[in-house]
Amino acid sequence: MTSADPARVPRHVAIVMDGNGRWAKLRHRPRTFGHNAGRKAVRATVENCLKHGVKVLTLFAFSSENWQRPQDEVGALMELFVRALDKEVDELHGNGVRLRFVGDLESFEPGLRQRMLAAMNRTAGNDALHLNIAVSYGGRWDIVQAARKAAEAVARGELRADQIDEKLLGQWTCLSELPPLDLFIRTGGECRVSNFLLWQLAYAELHFTDTLWPDFDEASLKSAIDDYARRERRFGKTGEQVAKKA
Ligand code: FPP
Repeated sequence: MTSADPARVPRHVAIVMDGNGRWAKLRHRPRTFGHNAGRKAVRATVENCLKHGVKVLTLFAFSSENWQRPQDEVGALMELFVRALDKEVDELHGNGVRLRFVGDLESFEPGLRQRMLAAMNRTAGNDALHLNIAVSYGGRWDIVQAARKAAEAVARGELRADQIDEKLLGQWTCLSELPPLDLFIRTGGECRVSNFLLWQLAYAELHFTDTLWPDFDEASLKSAIDDYARRERRFGKTGEQVAKKA
C-alpha cells in the first residue's frame, strides 16, 4: 500500500471505535465477542499508524457515560483492559510506543489504576508513537477539570480571573502537551461526536465511516488519511490567505 505525502499525513488522529456490538450481533455472538475483536483492531491500527507516520493516536475506549451499560458488559470491558495491558505493553514498549491513559482514572478500582500508571511510567521515554487511551473520559469532564484547576489557581492567589484565556485554559485540558488534533475518525456509521475531545476538536477534520470497528483495517486508515490529505485547512482564514502562505 503506497504511503501518502508525509506532509499531508495527520500528526494526531483520534478515533471513536464504534460498532463492536453490532459486529458481534451480525455473527449471533455476545457483545463481548465484538469487544475482543475490537481489541485486535486496536493492535492493527497502532501498527498501521507506526507504518504510515501518524505520531499521536487517541482512542476512545470507555466514556464517562459507558459506566451506565449493563454491569456484566462493564465488567467484561474492565477485564479486557487488564488482559490487554498484561499482554500488549511489552510489544508496545518494544515498538517505541508511549502509552498514556487519559480520563478520570480515580473512578477505576485501585488494582487496574495501578496497572495503568505502571504502563505509563514504563513507556514514558518512548517517542515513535504516542498512544492515548481515553477511559472514563468525557469532553465536558475534561473542560470542567481544566476550569477547576484555573479556579484553584485563582483561589491560591497565583492567577487573576482576567488572565484566564483560551491558551491558559487549554494548557490544563488533556493532551495539551501533544500536537493538536488533526483528524477525528468515527466508525460504525453514526455521525456524532459523543462527548469526545470537545475542546481539542475545534479545528480537527472529521471523517465518518460505516465500517464497524472490528473491520477497520489498514485500507480503512489509509482511506481516512487520504480523505484528510484532500482537505483545505483554513483555521478561520480565507482560501486565498491559505494559498498565499503555502
Ligand atoms: C463501542 O462499540 C465500543 C466500546 C464502548 C468499547 C471500545 C473498546 C474496545 C475497542 C476494546 C479494546 C480497547 C482497548 C484499548 C484494549 P459499541 O459496543 O457501542 O458497538 P455498537 O454501537 O455496535 O453497540
